[in-house]
Amino acid sequence: MNKFDVIIIGGGIIGSSIAYELAKRSKKVLLLERGRLASEASGAAAGMLAALVEMGLEVGPLFRLALKSRQMYPKLAHELRALSGIDIGFVDKGMLKVPLTGAEALEFEEIIKLQGSLGHQVSWCEKAHSKEPNLGQHISKVMEVLEDGQVDAPSLSLAFAKSAEALGTTTKEFTQVDDLLIEDGKLVGVKTLTENFRSDQVVVAAGAWSKNLLESHGYPLKTYPVKGECFSVLASQQLLESTVFSHGCYIVPKKGNRLLVGATAIPHTSDKKVSFQSVQSLMEKAKKLLPAIAETEWEKAWSGIRPQTDDGLPYLGMHPVYENLAIATGHYRNGILLSAVTGKLIADLLDGIENEDLHAFRLDRHTS
Ligand code: FAD
Ligand code: GLY
Repeated sequence: MNKFDVIIIGGGIIGSSIAYELAKRSKKVLLLERGRLASEASGAAAGMLAALVEMGLEVGPLFRLALKSRQMYPKLAHELRALSGIDIGFVDKGMLKVPLTGAEALEFEEIIKLQGSLGHQVSWCEKAHSKEPNLGQHISKVMEVLEDGQVDAPSLSLAFAKSAEALGTTTKEFTQVDDLLIEDGKLVGVKTLTENFRSDQVVVAAGAWSKNLLESHGYPLKTYPVKGECFSVLASQQLLESTVFSHGCYIVPKKGNRLLVGATAIPHTSDKKVSFQSVQSLMEKAKKLLPAIAETEWEKAWSGIRPQTDDGLPYLGMHPVYENLAIATGHYRNGILLSAVTGKLIADLLDGIENEDLHAFRLDRHTS
C-alpha cells in the first residue's frame, strides 16, 4: 500500500493551505475531500482580509496571527499564480466601516485611537462620499482601514490545492474519511469507505465537521457550526471601489461589477438552506448602505457553515493523545484571512518546530 508522509482530511482552504506548505517542503501529501475541493465554507466566503475591520479592539494572539497572515497575500498571489495558473483576485483597495449608531461611532473612535497608536493605517474619513459617491446619503463619516484587502475565496482555496498538486500532492475528491486508523494504540492513517490510507502524520482540517472525526477518540473539540447566507448581484457599472462593512451587512466589490452581499450568522445550524427572510433582511441593509444596488441584476444566493469554537479562538495544534495528529479548525469568520499563516505554522509544527504564535490555540488550553 502507498504510504504518505502526511494525510490531510478536508479540502477546504485550511487543508489546502497546509497541503501547499507541506508540498513546498517536499513532503509526500494526500489531501482527502469528501465532496469537491472548496465546496463548503471556503467556497462560500466573501474573501475579505479584514484583520482590523473584523477584530476592532482586539490586540491579542488572534489579531497578531491575522496581521501576519494578511501581509503574506501579495507575495502568495504571485507564487500561486505561477504554480497553478489561478488568479486569487487579491485586491488592495482598503475597507470602509460604517457606524450605524452613536455607540458604534464611539467604539470606532476607540479603535482608531488604539490601533492608530500601534501604527495601523486606520482613520476617520469625514467625507465618505468623496471616497465612495454611491454610499447612502445618511452616511457621513466612515472608518477607513487602508491595509485590509480582499481575495476571491474559492479561487484562493483552489489555488492552494492545485499548487500543492503541482508540487506532488495527491488529491482525492469524493473521498470521505470515516475514522482515524489506529493500530496498537498508535495512529497510522485513516479509514475511508473503500480503503485505508497510511501515513506518518495526519491533519484534521475538516472545518465544522472536524469534531465528528475526533469525538470517538477521547478529545471532544468545543466547536459549533454557524451558518452564513450571502447573495450576489451584477451592476451595469462600478458602484464601489472599496469593501463597505457595517453591523450585519457587508458589500464586497468583485471583478466584472459583481457585488457580493453578506452575511447572516445563525449559530448551531448545519443545514445550508437560504431563507427568504435572510435575503430580504440583507437586501434592506445593503440598500441603506448603497441605494443604487436596488437597480442591479440578481445573480444568486448561497450559504456556508463557519466553524466556531466556544472561546472564539481556533484550534491549531497537536492532539494531546496522538502525537502525530494535528488539528486546524475553528477559524470562524476569518478562515480565508488566516489560511496563509495557518498553512505555514501547521507545517512547522509537523516538522517539530514549535512556534510561540500557536501557544494560545493549543488543544489542551481549557485544561492547563
Ligand atoms: P471548510 O471550507 O468547511 O472545509 C472543510 C472541508 O472538509 C469541507 O470541504 C468538507 O467537505 C471536508 N470534510 C468534512 N468532513 C470530512 C471527512 N470526514 N472526510 C473528508 N473531507 C471532509 N473568512 C474570511 O477570512 N473572510 C471572509 O470574508 C469570510 N466570509 C465568509 C462568509 C460566509 C458566508 C461564510 C460562511 C464564511 C466566511 N468566512 C470568511 C469564514 C471562512 O469561510 C471559514 O473560516 C473557512 O472557510 C474555514 O475553512 P475550513 O477549510 O476550515 O472549512
Ligand atoms: N467574515 C465574514 C463572514 O464570516 O461573514
